Amino acid sequence: MVYLNGGFYRKEKIMKVAIVGAGQVGSALGNRLAAKGHDISFGVRNDKDSKYDTLRSRTKLTTPAAAVKDADAVILATPWTAARKAVDECGGLSGKILIDCTNPIKSDFTGLEVGHTTSGAEMIAGWAPDAKVVKCFNHTGAENMNNPDFGGTLRPVMFAAGDDDAALQMTVKLAQDVGFDAVGLKGLRLARQLEQLAWLWIDLAIKQGQGRDIAFALLRR
Ligand SMILES: NC(=O)c1ccc[n+]([C@@H]2O[C@H](COP(=O)([O-])OP(=O)(O)OC[C@H]3O[C@@H](n4cnc5c(N)ncnc54)[C@H](OP(=O)(O)O)[C@@H]3O)[C@@H](O)[C@H]2O)c1
Repeated sequence: MVYLNGGFYRKEKIMKVAIVGAGQVGSALGNRLAAKGHDISFGVRNDKDSKYDTLRSRTKLTTPAAAVKDADAVILATPWTAARKAVDECGGLSGKILIDCTNPIKSDFTGLEVGHTTSGAEMIAGWAPDAKVVKCFNHTGAENMNNPDFGGTLRPVMFAAGDDDAALQMTVKLAQDVGFDAVGLKGLRLARQLEQLAWLWIDLAIKQGQGRDIAFALLRR
């Protein structure tokens, strides 16, 4: 905060963020970003639904198209199976930063639908060709987005991968605001690795039985 002309103002840039999908991931990110002062609008299918009541105090609820209209960044947090429809329902995504949290998980929960030659994020970039797609917030559990504090100074890592430098930088800033050790990766093609990393987290947490209170970290010296 800085003191200016008789009032306090935030020095950091406040972003208008639309979040399409207000489930576990969308609501965790919305709550954390709203707490940091960002202007959050959820784009949902039925904005009157009482299941969203806890989100209403700090955020707005509207349709995906209305939420996206004036947003600096759009976070896509729907199931993979709903992603294409949700992208279409957003309408004009041209020039927008589109942060993809989805994971293209097979319906029988045995792995990912795509991998070596493309990724869910690259497919989404094909469906919204004029958006600046960044893969992020897909490789840890929603609980860790809600509370990234594991005690001590080490923070969970959150990679962001995208082709557009400015979009990548903005996404890294949002991931830092959520509370992650955010690392930008140049190239949306690296979403293939981030989606596999998500699958590794899921296998470790659920199939190998380590539980959802785990996260990856990046050590440096
Ligand atoms: N859960 C995790 O720990 C986690 C972690 C990282 C990444 N992910 C990925 O993040 C995505 C979301 O996961 P989640 O766990 O948050 O799922 P979730 O709790 O099931 O929430 C999904 C939300 O998407 C909404 N939705 C579906 N179709 C929509 C549309 N056309 N327009 C707008 N909203 C729509 C649903 O709304 P309705 O209530 O109307 O159905 C629901 O609120 C998934 O792709 C998942 O793989 C999940």
